[in-house]
Amino acid sequence: MAPDSSDIGIGLLGLGTVGSGVAGALSANGAEIARVAGAPLTIRRALVRDKNRKRAVELGHSLLTLNPADVVEDDTIDIVVELLGGEEPAHSLIQAALKQGKHVVTGNKEVIAKYGPSLMTLARANGVGLRFEAAVGGGIPIIAPLRRDLAGNQVIAISAIINGTTNYILTRMAQEGASFEEALAEAQSLGYAEADPTSDVEGIDAAYKLAIMASLGFKTRVEHAAVYREGIASLEARDFQYADELGYAIKLIARADRVPEGILARVVPTLVPYTDPLANVDGVINAVQVEGDLVGRVTFQGPGAGAGPTASAVLGDVIHLARVVTSGTTELPLPVPDGDIPVLPLDHLQTRYYVRVTVDDRPGVLAQIASNLGQHDVSIASVTQKETFDDDQTAELVITTHSARESAIQQALAQITALPAVSKLGALLRIEG
Ligand SMILES: NC(=O)c1ccc[n+]([C@@H]2O[C@H](COP(=O)([O-])OP(=O)(O)OC[C@H]3O[C@@H](n4cnc5c(N)ncnc54)[C@H](OP(=O)(O)O)[C@@H]3O)[C@@H](O)[C@H]2O)c1
Repeated sequence: MAPDSSDIGIGLLGLGTVGSGVAGALSANGAEIARVAGAPLTIRRALVRDKNRKRAVELGHSLLTLNPADVVEDDTIDIVVELLGGEEPAHSLIQAALKQGKHVVTGNKEVIAKYGPSLMTLARANGVGLRFEAAVGGGIPIIAPLRRDLAGNQVIAISAIINGTTNYILTRMAQEGASFEEALAEAQSLGYAEADPTSDVEGIDAAYKLAIMASLGFKTRVEHAAVYREGIASLEARDFQYADELGYAIKLIARADRVPEGILARVVPTLVPYTDPLANVDGVINAVQVEGDLVGRVTFQGPGAGAGPTASAVLGDVIHLARVVTSGTTELPLPVPDGDIPVLPLDHLQTRYYVRVTVDDRPGVLAQIASNLGQHDVSIASVTQKETFDDDQTAELVITTHSARESAIQQALAQITALPAVSKLGALLRIEG
């Protein structure tokens, strides 16, 4: 398709943070990239919203276009790189490019989480490749390992810190004793959090990424909507202090486990023991642990966002597809994750719990709580009285449990919070390990 066999045509959909990173790297590392790709890569057009916007990389006005067809229908473009973000028009334009017989690289987790299998099927039908390494973990290579290098394993679990914004906020809360609001404001002022942080702090972004990883790892379809989510906004600074005293960090963990009845997938703030590598992943760094029956546990760690790291992932995919073009072969179709292993409700989870509860400061209250937990087969591992509030004669208890079923702890806590002596359930967090 390239007009000159020594030249691969690249069309960019989007020239923002990542698009500019890709364009800059193609210029800075062009000679090396041409050597591994088998031909120089040339940006032919770039779709933007505003041609006059100041950009980190200036491509030349004539290369910018407001018309998507200039990219997806240009016969001199071999590989379309979608870096618009959001569901539409990104999804429709990826479809259009694949139907035009173009290879596609995207960093769009929302589109891949929602439409990955249908787009993979479309790519396969058109004899082209669809690659999305940048959609999960920014610069961390995780999609290719899951699809290829670890494919011989039965994956047992995937556990990840996969959202840099929330990990930055949690790190500040742990290290500085900052409140959630203070840490969020700081993350926003540094450009780590969006003006509307909902997708990050509510775990939506992490759920998209977990759904993609779990689908590939378990070779089945894990819908992002089936991933159970709890955000981080209700965490309080003292939970980090209490967790620390117990030997744990608090992290927003995106985790999927293969259990006999199906898959358990959730994004929840979690107590992670300091002995676990994930407990020491701080700031905007991401990490993914994959546990396979053959390999055991492997951890991938690195920058989860930013122009350079994300461009690194995009270019790995682009170079792979450029080699397909220069070698005159077709992209080897990888299996579409289309199994039907059920994704279970969280009720099936079996784990340990951390409970912070405010109670009347008088004898007998703990016995009532212990009795309620016991009636639901939840046994207490430790209890500490943390604070006494003299003004209203209440005290704060932190209870950890032995392993129990989620449905049991939820039923027990519903009864406990209804006790006259209990004024508030402060936190219910799962404990890893
Ligand atoms: N930023 C990261 O660190 C990172 C990390 C991993 C993955 N990703 C993913 O990479 C993708 C791009 O992210 P980004 O941070 O580069 O986004 P961004 O800075 O907001 O850039 C988006 C680009 O797309 C253009 N655009 C958006 N909607 C458009 C439309 N309807 N028509 C024409 N042009 C449109 C914008 O044009 P204008 O420039 O004219 O406004 C801009 O150039 C997203 O899917 C994101 O999730 C980003």
